[in-house]
Amino acid sequence: MSRPTNLVNSWNEWDPLREIVVGVADNACFEPTEPGHRPQLRTPDGGSAPFPTGPKPAEMIERANEQLDGLVRLLESQGVTVHRPVAPDLASPLRTPDFQVENQYCVVCPRDVMITLGNEIIEATMSRRARYFEYQAYRKLVYSYWNNDPGMVWTVAPKPSMADSMYRQEFWEWPLEERHRRMHSSEFCVTQDEVVFDAADISRFGRDIVVQESMTTNRSGIHWLKRHLEPRGFRVHPVHFPLDFFPSHIDCTFVPLRPGLVLTNPERPLREGEEQLFLRNGWELVDVPQPTSTNDEMPKYCQSSKWLSMNVLSISPTKVVCEEREKPLQDLLDKLGFEVFPVPFRDVFEYGGSLHCATWDVNREGTAEDYFPVNDYRPLAEGPRILG
Ligand code: ARG
Repeated sequence: MSRPTNLVNSWNEWDPLREIVVGVADNACFEPTEPGHRPQLRTPDGGSAPFPTGPKPAEMIERANEQLDGLVRLLESQGVTVHRPVAPDLASPLRTPDFQVENQYCVVCPRDVMITLGNEIIEATMSRRARYFEYQAYRKLVYSYWNNDPGMVWTVAPKPSMADSMYRQEFWEWPLEERHRRMHSSEFCVTQDEVVFDAADISRFGRDIVVQESMTTNRSGIHWLKRHLEPRGFRVHPVHFPLDFFPSHIDCTFVPLRPGLVLTNPERPLREGEEQLFLRNGWELVDVPQPTSTNDEMPKYCQSSKWLSMNVLSISPTKVVCEEREKPLQDLLDKLGFEVFPVPFRDVFEYGGSLHCATWDVNREGTAEDYFPVNDYRPLAEGPRILG
């Protein structure tokens, strides 16, 4: 489909990496409480103590930047070209015709906002108010691809209103039993009325794109992705992890590392039946070991779970970057035949994620392979179009 000389070319999560974007912690603020998100401190009284607001302290930002810079050095030493976004002012209040929010968040996790699908870059709709304008930090980069790669396609997904009516506020009050009872309905804090998706709910397998229904991606968002991507030759498969009661972003749950191998989360199995696509095509789903921290031991302001342990970044189908403390996972990767590159990254966790989250690959070797020839994929029915 695309020439290997294209600047924008990335079809999966594992092909040899040539060019990537790594986030920066500059200007980061604490994430505000809003209809799509309720941050909580990781302390014994986490539920009641107020979560801080406004800019993060300079020394915290510095610590995160040091670890992000360490990742950049490692990638560069492996021959990868690295770009960084430019953080705008994030501390001022925002107001659109439909919502207000006291500050923005940060630009540490490009994975959540931007995705490369072959020769196309898509800016996601996003699902939270404080992240509505995050794409701005990447526009300078996107323009440089746009100006220098005539084969590149640039798509901005429709922006949702993020008005109160887009959200389901009761979601936050449901007790655990209620969540358990509803686990197969895939209804979370965002309703189905508008097209909503974060890019990090998508995982790329060549012609096949896997998308998690979650708090940050609704069925309307997946429908938009299907209608947009099927005519371009992709198959878009919704997936569900019913035991994750607060699902958001697929890369701590289902992480492909090379053709035929996906790392899976032992506490978040796929919805029954959805594993068939993988098994019928000879893929192996391998559970990762328990992380080295419990959820309570995660950094105080971190809103992600202990499963950031499996948020690894592939440099190639044989080289994987992994957080330095996650020895059990490193041993598994070693056994599976990977060369592991450990880096410290815990100080980045409170900015939304780990190694996969904090990156956005724009160029990997390779083309659109079909890794799932055995499938009963049904594209959206296209009725005849009647003009006038
Ligand atoms: N919701 C995930 C978990 O806690 C964290 C996902 C982080 N990923 C990302 N791309 N920001 O397990």
